[in-house]
Amino acid sequence: MNKPFSESCQQNRQPILDVIQPLLKHSQTLLEIGSGTGQHAVYFSEDMPHLQWHTSDRSEYHQGINLWLEEANNPNIHPPISLDVSKDTWPKQQFDAVFSANTLHIMSQSNVSAFFKYVSSCMQEGGLLIVYGPFNYDKQYTSASNARFDTWLKSQNINSGIKDFEWVNHLAHATGLTLEKDYAMPANNRILYWKKKSA
Ligand SMILES: C[S@@+](CC[C@H](N)C(=O)[O-])C[C@H]1O[C@@H](n2cnc3c(N)ncnc32)[C@H](O)[C@@H]1O
Repeated sequence: MNKPFSESCQQNRQPILDVIQPLLKHSQTLLEIGSGTGQHAVYFSEDMPHLQWHTSDRSEYHQGINLWLEEANNPNIHPPISLDVSKDTWPKQQFDAVFSANTLHIMSQSNVSAFFKYVSSCMQEGGLLIVYGPFNYDKQYTSASNARFDTWLKSQNINSGIKDFEWVNHLAHATGLTLEKDYAMPANNRILYWKKKSA
């Protein structure tokens, strides 16, 4: 197998790093959901050596992620955990932070509900959830290109599609997460950043 490559990861990795690095400066452990190729994990963990970066994805992605991890050989990256958000195989460990990029628009609504149902159980109190990707606001696309992207997503899988910010934030709130900030990112993407409340 050749090492998988994502052009969008190359494009968005530095703008994402610029936002998340200050947020994660006190975090020691992070779970990435839907690591994809593993490119983000390699790039981000290099610049945040204090952070133990745990990759995860569905099993069919593991071989590709492992190729990136083996080549990078960063001491603070961990091999992929098998995690499908809809299954009861979430890690028992609690992390200081959870990160996920470009996943919620790929998932069905029921998988996004499962994501938020389970995610806080593997976050420490005061832990962070950081999600990158496109969102709709007031049921509207934020750009013509996002509208076209949504049509294309649904042509690939009828259950995929850009999710409403308000719905996602409602799910997060219901699981005990408070939205701290919503960052505008290049190419009509956002970074949503929530904190888990202390009991
Ligand atoms: C567009 S890729 C993004 C990958 C990577 N995070 C990135 O930014 O390049 C979507 C990712 O979501 C993951 N994904 C989709 N449905 C999932 C599910 N039910 N559970 C876990 N991951 C899922 C896919 O396996 C894939 O890695």
